[in-house]
Amino acid sequence: MSSSSEIAAEVTAVLRSLRGIWDEPAVDELDHAMQAGWHAQADGAPDGLVLAAVLHDVGRSPLVPGSEPHDRIAREWLTPRFGARVGWLAGAHVAAKRFLAATESGYAAGLSETSVDSLAHQGGAGGVDGSWTAHPWWPDAIRLRRYDDAAKVVGAPGMDIAEAAILAARIAGRSEIEPRPGGMSW
Ligand SMILES: [Fe+2]
Repeated sequence: MSSSSEIAAEVTAVLRSLRGIWDEPAVDELDHAMQAGWHAQADGAPDGLVLAAVLHDVGRSPLVPGSEPHDRIAREWLTPRFGARVGWLAGAHVAAKRFLAATESGYAAGLSETSVDSLAHQGGAGGVDGSWTAHPWWPDAIRLRRYDDAAKVVGAPGMDIAEAAILAARIAGRSEIEPRPGGMSW
């Protein structure tokens, strides 16, 4: 297991590697990540959800190996470092989009153009089964998705990389004693 300073350094490097990587036209992947974390904090999200929000698109980093889709890469990279819950939540962000597009009136119309395009490649609206929606962590996956969708605004405030790295180190130190799915503490 990596030490907390190694985890902090790794997360810092991975976040910095997202500078200049563009998925959306408005913000690069670093600004997108830090804005998503900011929205999670503003919403009073628990630490693990804040970290999952910051790192949900880590699969787009050139420093993170894996093969598409990027939600699965995120889950595979995050789980051994920060525990099953952080990994699962980040890995659910495409499923949450597909679910909301199918079930919430006006949701799809509010998506960015890029996100509408990618939705088509991701299987379209709906098709999200109970293995996602009946999962005890699903409500937090929906929360994360809303932070993701909101984090695409030029010049909007974002979390600091240093703060995210400290949070990551703290959660990595704790993940060994993480409760089972459905556990209340987080
Ligand atoms: Fe995203």
